[in-house]
Amino acid sequence: MSGTFADESTRVRARLVVLISGGGSNLQALIDATSDPDFPAQIVGVGADRADATGLDRAMRAGVPTFVVDPKQYSDRGEWDRALAAAIAPFDAEWVVSAGFMRILGEAVLSGHPQRIVNTHPALLPSFPGAHAVRDALVYGVKVTGCTVHLVDSGVDTGPVLAQQAVAIEAGDDETSLHERIKSVEHELLVSVVASLCRHDVQVIGREVVFS
Ligand code: GRF
Repeated sequence: MSGTFADESTRVRARLVVLISGGGSNLQALIDATSDPDFPAQIVGVGADRADATGLDRAMRAGVPTFVVDPKQYSDRGEWDRALAAAIAPFDAEWVVSAGFMRILGEAVLSGHPQRIVNTHPALLPSFPGAHAVRDALVYGVKVTGCTVHLVDSGVDTGPVLAQQAVAIEAGDDETSLHERIKSVEHELLVSVVASLCRHDVQVIGREVVFS
């Protein structure tokens, strides 16, 4: 049993803020996992960059507070980034999880949670970074792709890798079928990485993430 869970009666669950842009199936995997009181984290807030992100309904159904910080309402990226940082801050989160959040986080958000932001990406990084990873892998013609859970830095899907899982591309796959297969693997990987991060002390040494 780790230090955090030395005594069941004094157990503290890490506070997570989850950021989404779309349907929120990864968010749902985290909601389901955190509904188990033995899971070492709880979701305290869900944020989106668009009010029509249907994943927000999943948060509301689970009774989790939501917020929207839409870049269209800000004059530039810096102002949006500062507004997003200000919206996340009151949740006092130990970890921020970017789960299908289709924006690059800026300095204000990153500096508020140094080495404490996790992203899930539907390809085996460093192959196919960016917003069209599944399509790009298909177009390239690779036979194996997958998903990567990594720490977020200021680049596009460039932060230290926490975990990866391969998914084979099958004859006849299109972007939808392949993405669905990747997502089912991604959900489990994300949940298990979040659990590990919350159960251990985490040190980042260069590109290596050491759990103790
Ligand atoms: C996931 O595959 C994520 O890696 C990618 O977009 C997808 C989001 O799916 N960035 P969902 O909103 O969690 O269903």
